[in-house]
Amino acid sequence: MSERLLQASGSPGFGPRMMRISKGPWMIRAYKLQDFLMPGQFEGFGYRKIFVQEQVEAAIEHGARQVLLLGAGFDTLCLRLAPQHPNVQFIELDHPATSAAKAKGIALEGQSTNMFQIVADLGERPLSKVLAEDGRWDTSLPSVLVAEGLFQYLTDEEVRGLLVEAAASTSLGSRFVFTHAKPGYRKLVTFLTGLVAEPWKSAVKSEDLPEYVEGTGWKIISDVDTDEAHGVERYAVAERR
Ligand SMILES: C[S@@+](CC[C@H](N)C(=O)[O-])C[C@H]1O[C@@H](n2cnc3c(N)ncnc32)[C@H](O)[C@@H]1O
Repeated sequence: MSERLLQASGSPGFGPRMMRISKGPWMIRAYKLQDFLMPGQFEGFGYRKIFVQEQVEAAIEHGARQVLLLGAGFDTLCLRLAPQHPNVQFIELDHPATSAAKAKGIALEGQSTNMFQIVADLGERPLSKVLAEDGRWDTSLPSVLVAEGLFQYLTDEEVRGLLVEAAASTSLGSRFVFTHAKPGYRKLVTFLTGLVAEPWKSAVKSEDLPEYVEGTGWKIISDVDTDEAHGVERYAVAERR
């Protein structure tokens, strides 16, 4: 599904040829080089996907009626889970350009009536305002928000601001599933991603998260993540209190 979404996007570099090259020996060597610089990060993407899906499914089992993926990118979670949970609303939010590129693939996959996209740059408009203006998000429903691979593109101040905004838009008991960069890699990653993409701007130790989110309306309910298999990121779950 990821391949189909990327190809349908029509974005330069995501044609069938690039898909083939991506699985070829040279590209695999390049992934290994990335792994040498950021140990475990490549395989970590797989663990990240599994973690987020398990946490979202657990939250739905716990009563969540809305799922909001912040910075959804080309993630397939909503497309896969929406048909299985017709009573849950699935929402993806991302930048205008990314959302438009993904919309082409979503149309081809077949969009469930309980799934939709919201187009917004969270750097420019606060989340609570974006959701209120869209009108489809119900702040009174138990919900689960996801920020997978997003926080490192925001400053620490912006991350805490986003948590405050998310708290203002959700009912008590809602969950926030997120991943964050661990300190120590920012300069290296900033150099590497600076060549092709956006720099990393924030990082926090897993053990410092309770203090990091203090006063935002969220409380960390997951254990300290010490798993080296998660590469240069760590995973967490917070609950709206
Ligand atoms: C590294 S990708 C992660 C995508 C997806 N969550 C995943 O894990 O597969 C980060 C995503 O966050 C989005 N993003 C970054 N800054 C954003 C902002 N200010 N507003 C909305 N989306 C943003 C990017 O467009 C991109 O799709």
